[in-house]
Amino acid sequence: MKNFLAHKKVLLGVSASISAYKSLFLLRLLQQAEAEVKVILTPHAAKFIPPLNFELLSHQKVYCDLWQEGNYWSEHVHLANWADLFIIAPCTLNTLSKLANGICDNALLATWFACNATKVVALAMEENMYFNPITQRNLEILKATSTYILEPEDGELASGKIGKGRLAEPETILKKLNYIIAPKPLQGKKVLITAGPTQESIDPVRFISNHSSGKMGIALADTACMLGAEVTLILGPTPMRPNYSYKVYSVVSAEQMYKAVMENYIEQDILILCAAVADYKPLKYSENKIKKNHSQWELSLVKNPDILKALGAIKRPEQLLIGFALETEKGIENATQKLIEKNADMIILNYANYPNSGFSTDTNEVILIQKNIPPTPLPQEKKENVAYQILNYIVDLLN
Ligand code: CTP
Repeated sequence: MKNFLAHKKVLLGVSASISAYKSLFLLRLLQQAEAEVKVILTPHAAKFIPPLNFELLSHQKVYCDLWQEGNYWSEHVHLANWADLFIIAPCTLNTLSKLANGICDNALLATWFACNATKVVALAMEENMYFNPITQRNLEILKATSTYILEPEDGELASGKIGKGRLAEPETILKKLNYIIAPKPLQGKKVLITAGPTQESIDPVRFISNHSSGKMGIALADTACMLGAEVTLILGPTPMRPNYSYKVYSVVSAEQMYKAVMENYIEQDILILCAAVADYKPLKYSENKIKKNHSQWELSLVKNPDILKALGAIKRPEQLLIGFALETEKGIENATQKLIEKNADMIILNYANYPNSGFSTDTNEVILIQKNIPPTPLPQEKKENVAYQILNYIVDLLN
């Protein structure tokens, strides 16, 4: 997951809930994401978690009382102007109601109303309080003023009851903040991505496949989603899962991947074929397990459909078609040949035999190959950062 929180200035507001202890963990996670964090507590929150805890962890003064000694009168305005992002976690019903109705009787609220940054509330309250029609009406008011609502989760509540109301886990909140803060240059664009390997069955227990993990394709899909695209991921068999919520078609064989792509390609603006499709499948599938009663075994294979090539033949001129090329030698030559033969707009070349590159690794090093311009190498980085660079490059091509 590409980190968009680095160097962002984050105000962490904490209101009075038993779940306020989780905001200490959230503070740590934000710091690990290299965000700069300042904390504001409501006076009652300070009864749950003494401000000193936040002060020691944030290495910053903690704000709690508008009338705190040493504060100057416009401290809340300075804080509000400082922030890129303001998250209240946990946000109690009391604080939520005040936010929705313009009540400004503590430092956290005064800063909130003075703040024009991206605003988020992560709710925590008892289930009946959450479903109360007045709470729901107040949530609608906040949504209408462009506040992002992080819904409470189901589980055990402070009362011992099981229900909806728990503050989301700090990791979940961090992931959502990262999504919210990301720029959205792909807003309004539809992007289809294929990822992972395919498996071609020989018999009920055996198959032909390759070492693809799906990491690069999922990084591209996650990042495209964060950048605002409507993403469709056609995913081969891999235990890896997307980090965000978008349309995912799980497939096993090349035939299934081909079918899923053909059913979905028409409405797409951008098609990125990252999957390591098995080039061949067994000529015949054996319904029963093949026994090892011969010292040698020859398996006849037939070619699978080439999905990229098929799309290159039918795509609309305004659709951007991008393929990958995994090579071990003559990379530029082979990738250029694929670009032309498959009628793609760009081929992303990577090497299976470079250190920390290609299949299964967390990093990758790619070269962008296009017609009539010199190859563009990108630096070796984590796959999510490579995905971000590729998508940024694509955004430039669109403009
Ligand atoms: N591809 C595809 N369908 C296939 C094979 C490949 O859509 N049956 C796509 C891949 O997703 C990738 C591009 O074609 O975007 C190049 O894949 P690669 O495996 O590097 O090359 P191949 O075309 O399979 O050729 P070769 O194996 O001879 O290098």
